[in-house]
Amino acid sequence: MASYSNLFITDTQYLIGIQKSFDQLCKNTATNNWIRDYMEHRIPEDIPVKHTKYPTLDFNMLTSSSIRSLAIQFCGFALVTEALLNGLVKDMENYTDKPADKINVLEVGCGLGTLACGLRKHGVNVIAVDNFKRFAFGSSFSVDNAWIDDIINMDQVDAVEKYCSDVDFIIASWPECNNDITRVLTTMRTINPKTRMIYCGEGYGGCTATDEFFEVVGDISITSMKNTNNSYRKWYNMYDFWVMIK
Ligand SMILES: C[S@@+](CC[C@H](N)C(=O)[O-])C[C@H]1O[C@@H](n2cnc3c(N)ncnc32)[C@H](O)[C@@H]1O
Repeated sequence: MASYSNLFITDTQYLIGIQKSFDQLCKNTATNNWIRDYMEHRIPEDIPVKHTKYPTLDFNMLTSSSIRSLAIQFCGFALVTEALLNGLVKDMENYTDKPADKINVLEVGCGLGTLACGLRKHGVNVIAVDNFKRFAFGSSFSVDNAWIDDIINMDQVDAVEKYCSDVDFIIASWPECNNDITRVLTTMRTINPKTRMIYCGEGYGGCTATDEFFEVVGDISITSMKNTNNSYRKWYNMYDFWVMIK
């Protein structure tokens, strides 16, 4: 019988591959300084883009996927830049009519805590939780690469039950494709109808959340997060966006 085992790579081969592609990518430092920023826990001002209607990273599919694996390891799924943080903070301030340091946020499934770290630097109060499901050996996230050291190890629905009465926003960036995020939304609505969810991910049928989530969300309009979406850099072939959900 034919053996297919040589079609699969081991973790070590995968890591060597990533290192090699990173070395190659770093030769072009002008393009990839921002990756080094993420590796050294600095949030880049912005990322080079092709200026299209929806700014998409200026790479072709192949380059994009190898750089993306690195970026996920060190920054996470949503690319956090100073430009994005400025837009996001402005949208939260406009919506709440409060300055950044009076805004309280619960970030669920925060991953490496990059966004939480950046928002805190802008004065926003952030409680960051993750159940560390993604941090298993061989997966994209390592605790060594976390940006903050006070991520609370907690299920996201439990976190909403515990903190929602005191928060203006629940941020969910790139939630997994299961209905935990749907339960986060329904629990939020029950506990504190004033809280808004800020969701970053793809839409109906996309690679984040679930179709049921979008049915529960109802009408989606991205206008309330214009500053955020205008400054957000998305990867080639990814269709994620930011939206405020009530
Ligand atoms: C796709 S990652 C996105 C991480 C981060 N928000 C980002 O944009 O990079 C989803 C994260 O949600 C966490 N997660 C999944 N289910 C969870 C749950 N029920 N409670 C808390 N965290 C959860 C995983 O550990 C992982 O870090």
